[in-house]
Amino acid sequence: MRVFYITTPIYYPNAPPHLGHAYTTVYADILARYHRLVGDDTFFLTGTDEHGLKLQRTAEKKGVHPKEFVDRMAEVYKHYWSILDISYDYFIRTTYRTHEEVVKKAIIELHRKGFIYKAKYSGWYCVDCEKFYSEGEYEVVNGKPYCPIHRKPLEYLEEETYYFKLSEFKEFLSKVLSKGGIVYPESYAREVLSKLETVGLRDISIARPKSRVWWGVEIPWDPNYTVYVWFDALLNYLTGVEYLLNNDRFRRYWSEVHHVIGKDILWFHTVVWFSILKALDIPPPKRLIVHAFVINKGVKMGKSAGNVIAIEDLINRYGSSDSVRYLIARVFNLHKDVEVTTELLDSIHNTELADNLGNLVRRVGVLAIRKLNGVVEFKGIDRALEDRIINTLESYRKFMETYEVSKAVVPIMELLREANAYINKVRPWEKREPHEELYTLLEVLKYSARLLSPIMPKISHKLAVSLGFTISNPYVEPIGSQKVYEVRSAPILFKKV
Ligand code: MSP
Repeated sequence: MRVFYITTPIYYPNAPPHLGHAYTTVYADILARYHRLVGDDTFFLTGTDEHGLKLQRTAEKKGVHPKEFVDRMAEVYKHYWSILDISYDYFIRTTYRTHEEVVKKAIIELHRKGFIYKAKYSGWYCVDCEKFYSEGEYEVVNGKPYCPIHRKPLEYLEEETYYFKLSEFKEFLSKVLSKGGIVYPESYAREVLSKLETVGLRDISIARPKSRVWWGVEIPWDPNYTVYVWFDALLNYLTGVEYLLNNDRFRRYWSEVHHVIGKDILWFHTVVWFSILKALDIPPPKRLIVHAFVINKGVKMGKSAGNVIAIEDLINRYGSSDSVRYLIARVFNLHKDVEVTTELLDSIHNTELADNLGNLVRRVGVLAIRKLNGVVEFKGIDRALEDRIINTLESYRKFMETYEVSKAVVPIMELLREANAYINKVRPWEKREPHEELYTLLEVLKYSARLLSPIMPKISHKLAVSLGFTISNPYVEPIGSQKVYEVRSAPILFKKV
C-alpha cells in the first residue's frame, strides 16, 4: 500500500484564519482526500504554532494568559476547519506536553553533537515574522529598517543567545537543492540557491532570553532561555507522527512526507529545516510543495495589511463550504500570486458549478424520474462519452499526482460540458425509453462526482445518494459495470449569485 503523509504549516493562532490560511489548508485537504480515495495509507497533519513573542504580546494586549488565549484560539481554528470539512488526522498544538518534550530532547541532542554554542547577538527583528532580517533583506523607509513582508518598522535587539551552526550546512544545502526533486515547483529551489550564493549563510539564534520571551519551551540546560519559536514549530512535522515515541510509525510516514507551505516561509522550510534534520540524522522531506499568495488589491492578504476576506463571508455568498472549496481549488496557483476578486469567484461559481454541473444534474435527474420512473438500466453506452470519461480519469490522475489541483478540475468540467452538449443533441425527452442516453449521462455524473469528491465531499455525497451510486475509488471498476441506477431525486445543487 502506498503511504502519503501531508502537512500544512502550523498557523499562529493570534487571530482567526482567513482565506489565505484556508487556501493552504483546503489545498492540502484535497490532496489528502485524493490519496485516501485511491486507497493510499494517508496521514494529514495540521495545527497551531502557539509559542513565541507574537503570541505572548497578543495575549498581553488582551489581558489574558497566553495559555488561556491559545486554548481558545486553537478551538477557533478547529471550528473553521470543521466548517470547511478539513479532514485532518491529527491537530497538533505546540503547547502539547508530548511535543514540548520532544523539542527538548532534540535540542539537547544538537547541543550534545556540538551544533549549538552561546554568543552575543544583535540585529533587526520582525515580530510578525518572528525573524531577524540582515542588511539587504529589509527595506529602508525614512532611514529606518522595515519588514519587507509586513511593512512595519523592525525592532533592534541585542542579547546573549544560543546559536545553531547553520553555516556548516551550506555545502549540504547546495547539493540537496541543486540535485532537485524535493522542492516543487523547482523554481523555488533555484531562488533559495541563488540567495545562498548572494547572501550566504550565517549561524542563527535558536534561543530567546526568558526576560523578553518567556512564553516558550525552556532550554533544558539553561532555564534563563526559551527555544526560538521557529525551531519549536518546525519540529511539529516530526512530533505529529510520533518521532522518538514510535519509531516504526515515524519512519513509515516520514519517508513519504509532503509539506505544503506558502512562499513566505520557504527559507525556513529549506535552509533551516533541512539543516536541523541533517543535524538530527533525518533525511530531508520527500516533497516541499510551495505556493504563491492570495492577494487582494495587489497586496498579500493578511491581518496586518487589513485586506482579509473572511471564510464565513465566502460560505454565505456561495451557499456552501463545498462551493468555497471548489473556488479555492480552481484559482489555486503554485507559481503566481492570485488576485481574488468577487467578480472572478462569482463567474466561476455561476458558469462552472451552477450552469455546468448543477444544470446537468438537474436535467438528468428530472428526465430519469419522468421518463423511466427513476430506474435506468444498462442497455448500451455512448462510445464517445465513454472515451471521454477514460481520458478524464487519466488526466485528473496525472495532475493530482503532480499536485496540480487547479488543473485536475479542468478535464472534469470539460467532460460535463460535453455531456450537456450530448443531452441537447440526443434529446432524451423525445424518446420513449432513453435508457442508453440517461445511463451514459449517469456514468458521466458518477465519475465526475467521484473525481470531485476530494474537492466537494458533501456535494459528491449528495449526488451519490440522489442518483443512486457510491463514492469509491474511480480507478477500480470499469465503466459500464453498474447494471442499474435508481434515481431518487433531482437536486438543485447551486444557486447562482
Ligand atoms: N507559524 C508559522 C509557520 C510554522 S510552520 C512550521 C507561520 N504561520 S502563519 O499563521 O503566518 O501562516 C503562514 C502560512 O499561511 C503561509 O505559509 C501560507 O501557507 C498561509 N497564508 C497566509 N496568508 C496567505 C495568503 N495571503 N496567501 C496564501 N497563503 C497564505 O508562518
